[in-house]
Amino acid sequence: MRFDAAGLRKEFPILSREFDGKRLVYLDNPATTQKPRAVIDAVSRFYEHSNANVHRGAYRLAEESTAAYEGAREKVRGFLNAASVEEIIFTRGATESINLVAYAWGRKHVAEGDEIVLTEMEHHSNLVPWQLLAQEKKAVLRFVPVENDGTIDVTRAAALITPRTRLVSMTQVSNVLGTINPVRRIAELARERGALLLVDGAQSVPHMAVDVRDIGCDFFVLSGHKMLAPTGIGALYVRKAVLETMPPFHGGGDMIRQVFLDHATWNDLPWKFEAGTPNFADAVGLAAAIDFLSAVGLDALQEHERALTGYAIGRLGEMAGVTLYGPRDVALRGGVVSFNVEGVHPHDLATILDRESAVAIRAGHHCAQPLMKRLNVAATARAGFYLYNVEEDIDRLVEGIHKAEEIFKT
Ligand SMILES: Cc1ncc(COP(=O)(O)O)c(C=O)c1O
Repeated sequence: MRFDAAGLRKEFPILSREFDGKRLVYLDNPATTQKPRAVIDAVSRFYEHSNANVHRGAYRLAEESTAAYEGAREKVRGFLNAASVEEIIFTRGATESINLVAYAWGRKHVAEGDEIVLTEMEHHSNLVPWQLLAQEKKAVLRFVPVENDGTIDVTRAAALITPRTRLVSMTQVSNVLGTINPVRRIAELARERGALLLVDGAQSVPHMAVDVRDIGCDFFVLSGHKMLAPTGIGALYVRKAVLETMPPFHGGGDMIRQVFLDHATWNDLPWKFEAGTPNFADAVGLAAAIDFLSAVGLDALQEHERALTGYAIGRLGEMAGVTLYGPRDVALRGGVVSFNVEGVHPHDLATILDRESAVAIRAGHHCAQPLMKRLNVAATARAGFYLYNVEEDIDRLVEGIHKAEEIFKT
């Protein structure tokens, strides 16, 4: 059956917006995605019908909200195929999830001279927390290089993972290059050498089926807002055997069992890692987003994005002034296309695309400054596709780039 992106688009109220009489073409999906009516309604319904603080009340409304929140946890568990809800911690997003691991796991398990292996393509949120930890512990960061075709070489990664490696942390899909990294193979290599693996799933889990047990990773992070859910809700998966070795991250209400004046004992998993009132209303939104994505089908979605990516690479690749980054083989990449246009700064390009064509793209370093350095550029333009994008959106992008080239020629 044909993927009905145009039909799905109707489920997203914001996508009916027009600027200067032109339909909005939204291609800034790697930054954040738009929300379907089902998610907006689920959050509204929760506030109108079920809102009460969780885990505390003895009354029925609080029982209802607690059930909704814990139901959302089960939904995330199922979506990632984790073994148990004890392994799913709600956070504000991928960044907070990684900081939790760096702080709670890293401070306990990383010592002077230990090594953490990252790649050159990491988002700052999977780089700076490890820099902070390495500085504090006098640990060493090592980087898997990005090859000229935008991939990483497993042999070079294998050589960097040594018995001194405590952790390998890498993105599953690059937010700049679109590269899909071979995380399953990396998990095997890490395991062989006694290291753990964190997979940054911020750009993968919204777009492809993910199974944390099949990957064999120890940590997996995601951001709700990049997968149709509200902002301010995300999740962290930690394999139970690892989670059991970790001290708390934040202290406060809900994460305790008993509190004395001079010390406290901890709540069961996963609540030990959720201090304070959690973002339960947006967790309900995340559950609705997962339902929406599951109904669409992750394999069909990935196929749709692959077709759009192939089309975009084809059309942009024909343009003399356009430089494309990332793998040319669409089987190796997700739906993110970064490029530069000769003679037009990406920021100018993004502004002209918006003003002239109502096409929203991102320009800049995409929170990946070391990767920009590797690519020898200060910035790129980036278009990212999702379930509501169609080929016509790419045609509008290409037309807009032609317009920008005209403007800068004169
Ligand atoms: C690969 C990757 N990791 C992590 C993040 C951080 O996500 P958040 O800002 O939602 O915490 C992003 C956001 O762009 C990302 O693309």
